[in-house]
Amino acid sequence: MRFLVDAADIEEIRRAFETYPLSGVTTNPSSVARQGLELPRLLPAIREVIGADAELHVQVTASDAPRMVRDAYSLSELAGPHVFIKVPVTREGIKAMRQLVDEGFAVTATSVFAANQAFLAGAAGVAYVAPYVNRLDEAGGDGETMVRDIATAFATEGLVTVILAASFRDVAQVERCCLAGAGACTLPPALLDGLVAHPLTEDAVARFERDWVARFGSPALLER
Ligand code: G3P
Repeated sequence: MRFLVDAADIEEIRRAFETYPLSGVTTNPSSVARQGLELPRLLPAIREVIGADAELHVQVTASDAPRMVRDAYSLSELAGPHVFIKVPVTREGIKAMRQLVDEGFAVTATSVFAANQAFLAGAAGVAYVAPYVNRLDEAGGDGETMVRDIATAFATEGLVTVILAASFRDVAQVERCCLAGAGACTLPPALLDGLVAHPLTEDAVARFERDWVARFGSPALLER
């Protein structure tokens, strides 16, 4: 299971990378717009924080295939190595994905709300498909089932395309999607923290410390 941080804020990305075993960062036009920096400043700054080996997924903003391909070349220059070009699974998007894959780009098909969209993107040879789990749940669908259906079909076909599940409201959704066959999840920093938080873990740690201090007078292992 791989985890990425879904954020465009440099300090949030830095803190997440300091703590968690992350494979990369995903941004989208909304998160980039929220943090305010222009891409020519933002992407090199993110790259500096995450290092050359981490994946950086950045999204085109054009809506027609020729301009999506042009966006991909610009993003690729700014984001350095291991850039994944996020392209929404529209009709023009699928067309752009085919050209980008032919031209050697690693592509992440994004804004996936139906297994059929993922199947077409997989057939186009993308590296990742990104189903939006919570947004589908909130629209009355079933994000977990979408992930499971895509995973089943990709496995049957022997496709190497990885499911990068995105859009989560809570950690229960994350756990269910991991079990349903997502190979990776991209999460905002607060949800990464949520994955590790458990009241019984906190209670166990507090009890260990209490017992230790009661016997040795200080929580230190050796200095007593
Ligand atoms: O990367 C896609 C993701 O950011 C969408 O998440 O929480 O806005 O539905 P959300």
